[in-house]
Amino acid sequence: MASKQELEQIVDATDIVSLVSEYVKLERQGKNYKGLCPFHNEDTPSFVVNQEKKIAHCFGCGGGGDPIKFLMQIENIEFKDAVNRLAERAGIKISGYAINSKPNPLTKYYQIMQQAQAFYKKYLENTDKGVEAINYLYKRGLDDETIKMFGVGLSPNEHNFLYQVLKESNILELDMSDLALIDKNEKGYYDLFTKRIMFPICNESGNVIGFSGRIFNSDDKNQPKYVNSRETILFKKKDVLFNLNLAKGDILKKKRVILHEGQMDVIASYRSGLKEAVCTLGTALSIEQANILRKYTNHAVICYDGDKAGINASLKAIKVFQNAGFIVHLVLLPNGSDPDEYVLNNGIDAYKNYFESHMIDANTYIFEQAILNKNLNDETIVDSVKSEIFGMIYSANSKTTEESFLAKLSEKLKVSYQAISNDFQSYCNTHQRPKRVEKYDDYENDYETLEKPINKSKLDFRYETRLFMYAKSSRDKALYIDKLLLNKMDALSNDSRNLWIKLINDYYEHYEEFNETLFISMLDANCFAYYATITETLKKDKAPYNDSDLNCCIEHLNSTIYDRHNEKLNADFRKTDSEIEQSNIVSLRFENKNKKDKLLINRRK
Ligand code: CTP
Ligand code: MN
Repeated sequence: MASKQELEQIVDATDIVSLVSEYVKLERQGKNYKGLCPFHNEDTPSFVVNQEKKIAHCFGCGGGGDPIKFLMQIENIEFKDAVNRLAERAGIKISGYAINSKPNPLTKYYQIMQQAQAFYKKYLENTDKGVEAINYLYKRGLDDETIKMFGVGLSPNEHNFLYQVLKESNILELDMSDLALIDKNEKGYYDLFTKRIMFPICNESGNVIGFSGRIFNSDDKNQPKYVNSRETILFKKKDVLFNLNLAKGDILKKKRVILHEGQMDVIASYRSGLKEAVCTLGTALSIEQANILRKYTNHAVICYDGDKAGINASLKAIKVFQNAGFIVHLVLLPNGSDPDEYVLNNGIDAYKNYFESHMIDANTYIFEQAILNKNLNDETIVDSVKSEIFGMIYSANSKTTEESFLAKLSEKLKVSYQAISNDFQSYCNTHQRPKRVEKYDDYENDYETLEKPINKSKLDFRYETRLFMYAKSSRDKALYIDKLLLNKMDALSNDSRNLWIKLINDYYEHYEEFNETLFISMLDANCFAYYATITETLKKDKAPYNDSDLNCCIEHLNSTIYDRHNEKLNADFRKTDSEIEQSNIVSLRFENKNKKDKLLINRRK
């Protein structure tokens, strides 16, 4: 047990400004430091750090607190883990933990992934098979140090080697499969990754959450070049940036982030000394990823493949970054090459020089591309040029950008600034600026709830309450939903279920239209209190209220049912010692999991 004294000592020894600076770009402002809040989305800084009082607090969302609380929130870790980390950071030895807190439900999963990574790494480093893979990596310019730095490994060319290794250490098949390491067919369990060079993918705090595996043997040319972990409880592609765990300090230092297309490009950049590089995993940049990066910097440099596809993808990424409030530059590499090829052909110094001397402003690039080789005497062409450039100015959302590009455009088109400015105004009146996604309100992001069970009930609640919103809109809709809810009543909370029964069986049985006063008069005290709560919640809800949202609510209930079923099976599993029963439960669990996966995949479509 760490004593109260020890806790005080740890907090005392922590410089909150330097702690927070590891995550947030701070600027001095009088006695305090200020930055963009890492806990919610904002354009103007309201996150204030007071060095003397050792407090970091957001005046927007109320997030933050003392060093321990701040670390718990930002790393999503338990009290004792935060205390341990701070103690370690300050070089203080403590005797134990101050408070027994609930174990983080994800720790178990992180450990399994860590074990898998250690296995792949050992297999690369210590086997004959590994030699071929290492030679491949050497050929691509990686040295031993880089291979180690990125934790690269190798998955064996065997049916289920990893499975057996993990089984040895008593890891449950369920967990292995939930983490997308193995799967099962008629013949039994098999590894999902075989004969691939394995790049671990880590979350912001450096825990392994997934893998990206690349073929390296010429016999495998007809296989997909890369296979990534599918979505799991830990791995959500749209929230993950390869190398962010290693790069975050450099991003802060260099005040910019470099975005590449692939992990080999990130590694090439890293080798050239551009350590502030990250990439997505075969997907376009998501607004969530941009928001994550925005915690560290507001300057992005996109350096994708120099080919046509790379340029198109860059144009999309520019918009996403700009919507998240970034200033954006581009580096276009010659001859369609990607950073990794450029480094291999020209060396790391040449790459770095090229990179630093060929950064172009994204808006200027879009402007020039829009008018390049265009016949500006043709009116229809001029119209399309204008709307492209107006779109760019609109996304950039800055008065300076607006004025300078409208001026440039008036010059190019040989019309007055006033005329162009008027045109731009009417463009603005007819177009909607893409709204910045608030993390808090991203209700599609229900994977998050798997990660944080605490939030789960909150989200269930949100989905449930929305059903009432729809049901209130018309009797037909209510009866329609009631039909869909058949067999799903278990997924509703008791309160919701009671209220729903009142609404369908008592109210709509007698009345055609919804009348709130009338409905309330039919409710007992409990139902009334619950109804009051949901009306309050619905007032703040920003749901789109359309059919697809309604379906989303229903599907969420479906997946809740699978979760409940899983919980029950897990409990049963722990209760029995019989191997036969256990194996039956495992099969049921797999069936259930497959059904749920299918559901989630369908939802994604
Ligand atoms: N990718 C993927 N699945 C594929 C191909 C690509 O997930 N079948 C992802 C990988 O993250 C890859 C990135 O998309 O790093 C870029 O793909 P590509 O440009 O085709 O590959 P390179 O990065 O050039 O990969 P390499 O240099 O290893 O050939
Ligand atoms: Mn490449």
